[in-house]
Amino acid sequence: MRTVASIDIGTDKIVALIGEVDTYGDVHIVGIGESKSRGIDKGSVTRLEVAARAISTAMREAEEMSGQKISGVVINVSGSSIRSQNERDTINVSSNPVEVEEEHIVKLIERSTNRGKEDGYEIIHAIPRKFVLDDQEGIEDPVGLIGSKLTAQVHIIKVGTTLNRNLEKVVSYAGYQPVRKVVSALASAKAVLKEEEKDDGVLLMDIGAALTDFVLFIEGYPVITGCITLGGNNITKDISFFMKVDNEEAERIKRESGVALVDLVKEGDVLKIKPRGETREVTIERKHLAEVIQIRLEEIMEKIIAKIEEAGFKLDSANAGVVITGGTANLQGIKEFVERFTDLPVRIGVPEGLIGLKERIEDPRYATAVGLLKFGITPEGTVLEQKSSASNSRGGFRGIIKKLSDFFREIL
Ligand SMILES: Nc1ncnc2c1ncn2[C@@H]1O[C@H](COP(=O)(O)OP(=O)(O)OP(=O)(O)O)[C@@H](O)[C@H]1O
Ligand SMILES: [Mg+2]
Repeated sequence: MRTVASIDIGTDKIVALIGEVDTYGDVHIVGIGESKSRGIDKGSVTRLEVAARAISTAMREAEEMSGQKISGVVINVSGSSIRSQNERDTINVSSNPVEVEEEHIVKLIERSTNRGKEDGYEIIHAIPRKFVLDDQEGIEDPVGLIGSKLTAQVHIIKVGTTLNRNLEKVVSYAGYQPVRKVVSALASAKAVLKEEEKDDGVLLMDIGAALTDFVLFIEGYPVITGCITLGGNNITKDISFFMKVDNEEAERIKRESGVALVDLVKEGDVLKIKPRGETREVTIERKHLAEVIQIRLEEIMEKIIAKIEEAGFKLDSANAGVVITGGTANLQGIKEFVERFTDLPVRIGVPEGLIGLKERIEDPRYATAVGLLKFGITPEGTVLEQKSSASNSRGGFRGIIKKLSDFFREIL
């Protein structure tokens, strides 16, 4: 059995998962650990020591449960510096048509990656999509086919160097080796999306505490990946401000009585709240609370849609609609709100496809951690992250993937 481990470094919580991969490739979760996040804000490390302590608390809990000591972990990367772009490149395979080899694809990815390089940023994903072989479009896997000119589009995802390095540092400080980094949006997508949805076109949104990570898939592949610095905590702060309650009371009100869409609230529905500094409770209209929540959610949606449009895409091309995950996906009425806002089908994404401890992890809060674990098993789309393996490779695209899998076996 091979062991894989992941750590989701969130603003609200740190989640550590340990999984064992059986001979069929199925993952059995054998360890879960969770701690309150400290020293982390919007994907960045703000205090090294306290953040490292929170990470090791979660990881140690998972280790104790599984009875294993872990060294290498797959971690997430998120924050305002996440950005993506699509590069298109062509290489001449040969003047006469010959068999396309894996090396050709590696070369295409490398060239596109070079073009995507930017000071202050590191490329952490390079995902090839849409191959064209000579004049033939829509090639899914060109290896072994005959042709002389190969074109591909490569989806590149970058992250600010400072954020990236500090994340590595905090995980090392906690005593673990970050062997792979995956953008939160892709990790969550891997945990909750169905292949069919990606093929039909789908927008995945992971609405967490301080961040909303998103990725739009069209024809099976991501075309825009990003993150906005708004999430459930902003809703809590708004409630605290408008209802004049402290943060704890605002969080309670949000979870117990909050609704994402004003129209879902019955006329005359009221709730009791305890304003700051008051000893007595006061009664407020639930519609008013829903209004506060809906306004913030509208802003989140508008910002994401604006980013999609800036990148030259349309949300309407997501025929499978929107899948919402992350802790804020537990907010009452959020599905209905997003349906109304986008006029698309919407569902709540719960992590799937793992064996063991299901009842614990079947919550949108765990989407990122589960996806990271899955990335530990099939590291597609992260090929160039291990730059040395990629550029020294003689085994080509799949060779690299195999190498990375071996690499994991050695490290974990
Ligand atoms: N039942 C609920 N109703 C409304 N909001 C909820 C509920 N449960 C959790 N949340 C909200 O979800 C948020 C936490 O989500 P999550 O655990 O995904 O965050 P995170 O991954 O730690 O943070 P981030 O990804 O933003 O760095 C909090 O703002 C919390 O208030
Ligand atoms: Mg999160």
